[in-house]
Amino acid sequence: MDHFGIVDGELHAEQVPLGRIAREVGTPVYVYSRATLSRHAKVFREALSALPKVHIAFAVKSNPNLAVLRLLAREGYGADVVSEGEMNRALAAGMRPEDVVFSGVGKTRIELVAALRAGIGQFNLESEEEGVELAELASDMGVRATCTLRVNPDVDAKTHAKISTGKAENKFGVAYDRAAGIYARLSALPGLEMRGLAVHIGSQITDLEPSRQAFLKMGALMGDLRAQGHNVTHMDLGGGLGVPYKAGDNLPTPADYGRLVSEVAQDWDVTLMFEPGRVITGNSGVLVTEVVRVKQGTGNPWIVVDAAMNDLARPAMYDAWHDFAAVNPTGEAMVANIVGPICESSDTFAMGRDIDAVKAGDLAVFRTAGAYGATMANTYNSRALVPEVMVDGEKWAIVASRIEPAAILAAEQVPDWLD
Ligand code: LLP
Repeated sequence: MDHFGIVDGELHAEQVPLGRIAREVGTPVYVYSRATLSRHAKVFREALSALPKVHIAFAVKSNPNLAVLRLLAREGYGADVVSEGEMNRALAAGMRPEDVVFSGVGKTRIELVAALRAGIGQFNLESEEEGVELAELASDMGVRATCTLRVNPDVDAKTHAKISTGKAENKFGVAYDRAAGIYARLSALPGLEMRGLAVHIGSQITDLEPSRQAFLKMGALMGDLRAQGHNVTHMDLGGGLGVPYKAGDNLPTPADYGRLVSEVAQDWDVTLMFEPGRVITGNSGVLVTEVVRVKQGTGNPWIVVDAAMNDLARPAMYDAWHDFAAVNPTGEAMVANIVGPICESSDTFAMGRDIDAVKAGDLAVFRTAGAYGATMANTYNSRALVPEVMVDGEKWAIVASRIEPAAILAAEQVPDWLD
């Protein structure tokens, strides 16, 4: 459920008409609903309430906006970060260092040291090599790094290949069969305090069966580690729960996910950790765009909008579907292709789609754009970096300004030896 709906013929975010934001900020612009974000944060937490010890670390990569992070900090969420930049955002938003988890296969020495200095709560190690390096750095600093070992369970999450992470051929985690040996060797290092395991099999997961298989495998591995005398107190089950992108999509809910975790992990006697991203932010945001013109062709008309693949990369990268809706729907419909202005054919949002009828100058939205939207934006074709707005009831504010091409140009220099 979200808080975007038609009031008096115009699409609103909570109580604010999207036309007002578009007029004042310009388009394209991302608009987030605070009520939707808070609701999703509560629903996800509620879904896990049957479990005794739970820690939720929001996957910052899905939406790193400072205001979004502040709101989630207030909801009691920690953060799952994958770079020093994300870590600093989480801390700036008011998340406690001990509630921050550092994931990622390529944490650099500089990042490991910065995270040790910040006193973050947990490193999810992705390799033995990383563990050895972190142990040395921690020992040099006279501290111990609290860690889990990320395991690759070799389970197919049945999602898009580019966002699948739990198969043997993916770069993430250590091989299931090697995990116990690596865990034992890392546990012996004085710089590390190994306290458990981590797993994350992919994103936009729409079938819970692969998650069940992965969690069962992790439970078995945890049993082996305990049998070998290791103290396992934490199990990080990652993120990945999918969201409906098409009106009418029928997906597992957070409650279904919570039931699955309860069934599998009820007796594990650990703190269960979660790293949800999209399920919190996805349906909390829309991308507002203006129709530049409608170009007639040999087939369907081309709706050329002022948003492009640099603002919302998901359709170009993963053939992702985002519902398209007019801000002032007339009740008429049309079949059209929706494209952006960028000079390549991958800048296509939809082909042959049934949509609200729109004409040049009309406003429209791409829905479910709150996750992996603004954060994946870039300035390709020397376009601006897209701004972000948050709405709260009748209030709204710019939470990330548009970065104009002139500001990006100003950061470039021509060396004098070129003249
Ligand atoms: N934890 C780890 C270790 C992850 O790698 C990810 C996502 C998450 C948690 C959060 O997953 P979520 O709950 O959001 O599914 N750009 C792609 C998605 C990439 C996801 C990468 N990892 C997209 O737009 O679909």
